[in-house]
Amino acid sequence: MTYLTVYTDGEAPERLLATVDPDEIATELKGIDVRLRHWRVAEDLPSGASQDEILKAYREEVDRVVAEEGYTFVDVAQLHPDGGADWPERAAGARRKFLAEHTHDDDEVRFFVEGSGIFYLHTEGRIHAVLCEAGDLLSVPRNTTHWFDMGTEPAFTAIRFFHDDDGWVGDFTGNPIADRIPDFDTITAGRPVA
Ligand SMILES: [Fe+2]
Repeated sequence: MTYLTVYTDGEAPERLLATVDPDEIATELKGIDVRLRHWRVAEDLPSGASQDEILKAYREEVDRVVAEEGYTFVDVAQLHPDGGADWPERAAGARRKFLAEHTHDDDEVRFFVEGSGIFYLHTEGRIHAVLCEAGDLLSVPRNTTHWFDMGTEPAFTAIRFFHDDDGWVGDFTGNPIADRIPDFDTITAGRPVA
């Protein structure tokens, strides 16, 4: 269930909104030029499916988005606890990568096949924290200041769309705002139960 919380961006951020209402979420995000769409979730996908199997299961939807938006490169990002001795270190490393505020020259477009993650969008003095789950396709326009938190126990599979395949990097703003806003673990622990 998609969950949106909105905060002020001052020294002591206040929570202005918390909602799971799809219409309210759509309206809020439209107001900041961020698009959230919902696809059916492929039920027949085996756990541990390969990138090819995942893309095949969503072929129709992926092709449509690629045709509409002109993306030239699509892949699948996956991260799940695997019981390895180095998992905590790898999980923390992956989480840290985009946990500080940054922008990109390209749109950041993710479809959650399963699992979850929170995109924090910082515009016009507000932080919109969008908890995405299976079936959610979020499009963050290029140059939008944002960060992403996958939590201390990352678990997700996401299809990613790019306009070019060479070097999609974060341009970090140096603003420590992400440290003052509730993180993935805090927000997921406090959200309404479906
Ligand atoms: Fe990003």
